[in-house]
Amino acid sequence: MKAEAEALFRRTYGGRPQWVGEAPGRINLIGEHVDYAGGFVLPCAVDRRIAVAGGRGPRWETHSEAGDGTAYVRAVGQLLGRPAQRAAIAANLPAGSGLSSSAALLVATAAGLDPGLSGEAAALLCQKAETAASGVRVGVMDQFASALGAAGHALLLNCGTLAYELVPFPDDLALAVLDSGIHRSLEGTPYNQRRAEAEAALAGRNLLDIEDWGDDPRLRHMVTETRRVLEFVDCLRAGDNHRLGELVSESHRSLRYDFEVSSPELDAVVSAAEAIPGCLGARMMGAGFGGSVLALVEARAAAPFMASIRVPVILCSPADGAFRA
Ligand code: GLA
Repeated sequence: MKAEAEALFRRTYGGRPQWVGEAPGRINLIGEHVDYAGGFVLPCAVDRRIAVAGGRGPRWETHSEAGDGTAYVRAVGQLLGRPAQRAAIAANLPAGSGLSSSAALLVATAAGLDPGLSGEAAALLCQKAETAASGVRVGVMDQFASALGAAGHALLLNCGTLAYELVPFPDDLALAVLDSGIHRSLEGTPYNQRRAEAEAALAGRNLLDIEDWGDDPRLRHMVTETRRVLEFVDCLRAGDNHRLGELVSESHRSLRYDFEVSSPELDAVVSAAEAIPGCLGARMMGAGFGGSVLALVEARAAAPFMASIRVPVILCSPADGAFRA
């Protein structure tokens, strides 16, 4: 993608860009709406990327074939203390596809402007930049995956300590990302409200210490989701693909009924996916309220699955993050 972004920069602004950065989107296997609560998450960086080519300019501006990324590029640049830049953005990661195109754009910009950053520092800076650009108090999962994911692996991240570990992802599983048809940016959703509810439910306690959720469904989601993440990792290591699928589907039910971030469209896509032979489990992925569904499919059933499902779908595989040396 870097070559495309450079070419777009030359066509748009003339001359050579002074910096170029590239970063992947992400999927999240499991661990939804727990990153900002200090829980465990298990995302992967994926083989769809965004590249940004930029240079000093008279004002902050960007050119891209999809959407306006200026607020994101500027937010990263300003946090790095840079003067105004103009930048061209190229991607094979569709915006609004549920693959965290915004995190990829932020991390690509950070990688271009300051390749000497550590992956952890870049992820934290980009999380801050996303909130500055959008007003949404996102967690650190998406930026961390985009910065530090690794080919062939999922990334188990403790969002409370930022300790992480790479867990091999098996070849006999395929990851399908299905489009619910509802494209939204998080600004228009109750994301901040859910985060506030989660913080109120935690009341200053460490999520990982809580065993009893009383009658609070938000807390029940966060506690059980964190347990599912750890069981998922055990099942990855044990090769128990059947149980992996069950955990994914249980996560969806928890997000739907306890955390209430699903939607009728997402629920319909999950049911449609689960009804196809070879689909081990499916769930809404990311913030919810629209966006996309992740289906875990037996690799040998992936082609017929893709042919049967009646919504736009792409297959993804775990890839290297931008700050993976
Ligand atoms: C969005 C946010 C993440 C995370 C998910 C929900 O993708 O950017 O930080 O909170 O929603 O798990």
